[in-house]
Amino acid sequence: MKIVHTPAELRAALSPFQSPAFVPTMGNLHDGHLDLVRQAVPLGDVTVASIFVNRLQFGPNEDFDTYPRTLQADCDKLAEAGCHVVFAPNERDLYPEAQTFTVAPDQALANILEGHFRPGFFTGVCTVVMKLFQCVFAESKGPRHALFGKKDYQQLMVIRRMVEQFALPISVVGGETQRAADGLALSSRNGYLSPTERAEAVQLSQALRQLAHAARALPQTAGFADAVMALEHDAVQALNRRGWRTDYLTVRRRRDLQQPAPGDEMVVLGASRLGATRLIDNLEF
Ligand code: PAF
Repeated sequence: MKIVHTPAELRAALSPFQSPAFVPTMGNLHDGHLDLVRQAVPLGDVTVASIFVNRLQFGPNEDFDTYPRTLQADCDKLAEAGCHVVFAPNERDLYPEAQTFTVAPDQALANILEGHFRPGFFTGVCTVVMKLFQCVFAESKGPRHALFGKKDYQQLMVIRRMVEQFALPISVVGGETQRAADGLALSSRNGYLSPTERAEAVQLSQALRQLAHAARALPQTAGFADAVMALEHDAVQALNRRGWRTDYLTVRRRRDLQQPAPGDEMVVLGASRLGATRLIDNLEF
């Protein structure tokens, strides 16, 4: 496995290949990322992962400085999972000057949920992903694949929309969320949890499961939207009574993450803080 740092080194490493399959990450890898890499291997003639903690997607009070940087351990795991090329730029490699051109996503999709609680987050994500796509795919001629986890459900939808709207010749593949034995979705931020918080953390996925179950049981009638809102309210109160500080627990239709109507395919999404750690999760139903 090759490890390269600059866009020029990456292009040189990829020049013999036609069809990269690409997994962008911010490092501190867990089995969710490695599962994406394993899925990527058969999709292209070279498997590429990037490791870059992207300052643009962090708010001023977020964990950019403390986000775990574990390059050597990550590279060992990537090699084991079958990755061929790791692109690990430093900030100057990817942003040699202040990034004043940005990719502003569709507001209806990107200013709700995560975008509401983390203003500018999806602009930061889209900007870096567009730039990473340029670095990885610019020279390739065959099918191009990029893989993102469903754990970041809204991010996956925003990226899909960006790829469609800019007519990028890239197939976006969503990988299923990987979970610990108790049901907690794997996340790089789980490492911030104390042992007591780790034992409690499963309550987020349980709250989502119960909310999905209750929403599925609702009569598909005119009062559906109000009944969903009442269920969401009760779910937030129940989680907060356990000491969480919840940003949202909500039922949405899958296709655009707006309020669902009877008959829509749905997803429940949640974001909540346990101590200093903000966790997100979702379940399609
Ligand atoms: O999901 C992530 O790890 C990041 O948002 C991504 C897609 C690598 C962009 O920095």
